[in-house]
Amino acid sequence: MTTNLSLLDSSQIQEFVEKKSLKIAVVGIGRIGLPTALCFADAGFDTIGIDINEKLVNMVNSGDYPLNDEPEFDKIFDKVLEKKKFSAKTDITKVIPHSDIVLLSLPTPMNNQNIPDYTALLNVGKNLNGLLSNGQIVIVESTVEPGFIENELLESMEGPEKNLKSGIDFHLAVCPETANPGEIMHDFKKLPRLVGSIDEKISPIVSALYTNVFGVELIPMPNCKTANAVKLTTNVFREINIGFINELSLLFEKLGIDTYTVIEAAKSKYNFQPHYPGPGVGGPCLPVNAYQYLNSSKKIDVNFLKIVQDARKINESMPSHVIELLEDAFSESNKSLENSTVTILGISYKPNVHDVQIAPSEEIIKLLTQKNVKLKIYDPFFILENVFGFDIEESLSAAVVDSDAVILITGHKEFDDLNLENISNSMKKPILVDCTGKIDPIQAKSQGIIFRGIGRGQT
Ligand SMILES: NC(=O)c1ccc[n+]([C@@H]2O[C@H](COP(=O)([O-])OP(=O)(O)OC[C@H]3O[C@@H](n4cnc5c(N)ncnc54)[C@H](O)[C@@H]3O)[C@@H](O)[C@H]2O)c1
Repeated sequence: MTTNLSLLDSSQIQEFVEKKSLKIAVVGIGRIGLPTALCFADAGFDTIGIDINEKLVNMVNSGDYPLNDEPEFDKIFDKVLEKKKFSAKTDITKVIPHSDIVLLSLPTPMNNQNIPDYTALLNVGKNLNGLLSNGQIVIVESTVEPGFIENELLESMEGPEKNLKSGIDFHLAVCPETANPGEIMHDFKKLPRLVGSIDEKISPIVSALYTNVFGVELIPMPNCKTANAVKLTTNVFREINIGFINELSLLFEKLGIDTYTVIEAAKSKYNFQPHYPGPGVGGPCLPVNAYQYLNSSKKIDVNFLKIVQDARKINESMPSHVIELLEDAFSESNKSLENSTVTILGISYKPNVHDVQIAPSEEIIKLLTQKNVKLKIYDPFFILENVFGFDIEESLSAAVVDSDAVILITGHKEFDDLNLENISNSMKKPILVDCTGKIDPIQAKSQGIIFRGIGRGQT
């Protein structure tokens, strides 16, 4: 039998939390859900992860840690499996009726028309309708646009006939996850969390639970939509600023100004927040979050947020700009890009993660393929995997040898100290396009490399 927490007073709730007497279910054990579930289990709560990905569930249950680019969780994973505090299942119907708290960490991507796709949350919401009964608390950690919880998810959980009542049969809250891939442990320990709920008496219970597990500050929000707006605002703020610096980079390239020198000096002003140029903005968060806000605005039939539309357009145009830089370098070397061999270094959407969701590299690869370029691709996080239809090279040197040009797309740690002399010696009349700002243009030129870099105005 589960515990109806909403009927308890605050000292009773505290006692339940401190005695770890609550059973936790985490639906969706991907990049965010698995580390979250591991933290609840490590804090002493019996935790079950639920996922439709059978392979992932089997992997987890057989002790095979699936997130190798997410440091520190591997040890917790081994520990909680050994203590039998955590396991995974595919069948939601067996778990939810015995869970006091249900966390939803489901994907919220967008479709190919850039419309946010909340199918996973809505489907699970519908399933929960037949499984909740005793005032269990459902906490949505997924990123959604403001109003989605109140207007859509709540309806799917209550059912068309309203056979379940929010506030009685179940309670709905949000605690949007804000961690950065590759740094999730650091962020879990440091970042304050936001809590909003449909039924205000639930927020203190969620706060008590999350404080117990993560030990971070909990910031109460007046409702779910405000909490979701905060999460989107932090990410879309970055999207807009990166769009601004990318567009400035295009100008500075023409004016012969080095963008990195400008940013470095601008940082001396206390209220300047540095953002850096790049080949576009990818990943499961920033681009999607921009479209989630645009969708919010479209739903109420207003054309707000032109600045977000513009930033998206600029950021989406950066892969084409990378090709322009490459073509410019080829014309300086009197070689033709068509039928040449180009090496790509780094395909992840950001440094030091094994993730190519909405990665700008995909568009750059597509554009190069259309120009009949032969591609060699190396990424230390994808060695010998097949990505975008290409077999990834086994080493940097194998990828570079006999190439006409290199494009450094993702600033992985492994590319911090590229040996330009070696690269230059193993290539044919070397060309290097840097999208990361890691390469010093003067040093590259001193190695006889024809160099171009995003935002690197040629002086
Ligand atoms: N990855 C990030 O950087 C990040 C950071 C903060 C917040 N978020 C948000 O967290 C949420 C989850 O993102 P993620 O990166 O962990 O996604 P993910 O794709 O890594 O994981 C989602 C998991 O849910 C599972 N799933 C899909 N449909 C399901 C269903 N019907 N029932 C059970 N399981 C199902 C998938 O198999 C997958 O394992 C998203 O809303 C995302 O925007 C992501």
